[in-house]
Amino acid sequence: MSIEIRDLDRHDEAQVRMFWEVERDAVADRPYNTFLAWEAARAYIPMEMPHVVRHFAAAWDGDVMVGALVANGPLTDNTHRAYADIAVHPAHQRRGIGTALLQEAEAFARAQGRRVLGSEAYAPVGGSSASLEFATRHGFVVALENGMKVVDIAKTRDRWDALAAECAPYHRDYEIRTVWAPIPDELVAGHNLVSNMFISEAPSGDLDMEDEVWDAERLRAQEERAAKAGRRDATTFALTSDGEVAAMTELFVNETAPHRGFQSGTLVVPAHRGHRLGLAIKVANQRAVADRFPELEWIITGNADVNAQMNAINDRLGFRVVERCLEIEKAL
Ligand SMILES: CC(C)(COP(=O)(O)OP(=O)(O)OC[C@H]1O[C@@H](n2cnc3c(N)ncnc32)[C@H](O)[C@@H]1OP(=O)(O)O)[C@@H](O)C(=O)NCCC(=O)NCCS
Repeated sequence: MSIEIRDLDRHDEAQVRMFWEVERDAVADRPYNTFLAWEAARAYIPMEMPHVVRHFAAAWDGDVMVGALVANGPLTDNTHRAYADIAVHPAHQRRGIGTALLQEAEAFARAQGRRVLGSEAYAPVGGSSASLEFATRHGFVVALENGMKVVDIAKTRDRWDALAAECAPYHRDYEIRTVWAPIPDELVAGHNLVSNMFISEAPSGDLDMEDEVWDAERLRAQEERAAKAGRRDATTFALTSDGEVAAMTELFVNETAPHRGFQSGTLVVPAHRGHRLGLAIKVANQRAVADRFPELEWIITGNADVNAQMNAINDRLGFRVVERCLEIEKAL
């Protein structure tokens, strides 16, 4: 039977559920399940997102959904880029369905005037995977290699007091403050300043990417969407005596799956490096999240292999590499 690619009806919950199940089953062999909880997907997929143009398409074999594509293009910054996430149900792989969905993604990206298509491919440590082989076959190149790292809370939480005490003498001139989303008004400008320097300050390999552009309106809209999807974000700041943001780290849990946490960006502003702020804020943030969510079992993060400072901090916290994450790109 021939395969048909059609737009997903994002407002038909039965279709959205099938779409989510295809994606879930396609990534079920990854060592740590980071796949979006159903309650979160059902909130995110139909949502309007003014800072990004999104395209959802499904591959059908008769009345069976066998493949899923989520493509998007940022509208505020990096408007030369588009992203694609492709999933084919394991029972239907190697039939050209992934290739057809990639063609659909490329057509979307070109129609939006994008010249780079980005994606992520996961693979076992020291090995390859279907997604990496598929991507290489289709002309993607690896722009940055990250290690996916996990820390087990029960096994490592007894380190936190000693690590915090070790850092304290180095950051006496800074206040360490943890907040839950939404970010308090007085910290919004500092938060955005740090978000806006992230791409240029963190190692980004060969990625053809520029800094993001966050303002208060974009942040508030993103916080509102995240809250509706059950996401609870903890941010720990290091603040100077003038209340300026010197460092920031972000970690979130979805309350529908509170056994796992997602560590995203950590950044110490260049003028404030050398005060052990990176380690201090990460310890404080992990502690805040573990206190609020006693079910928290592990936290996952991804770091560029070349990011020696961040990797050293993560080693002290007890993170261990569990998977490769290749940031891949294709010039259109
Ligand atoms: C990656 C994925 C989307 C490929 O879907 P698919 O429908 O099986 O892909 P296709 O049949 O179009 O494969 C096209 C070519 O890619 C390569 N390829 C795909 N899967 C492969 C595998 N398991 N091992 C080696 N090469 C593979 C082959 O060259 C293949 O051509 P061939 O079958 O003629 O040898 C699918 O394996 C999947 O859903 N994986 C999990 C989700 C994921 O990682 N998505 C991210 C994609 S960047």
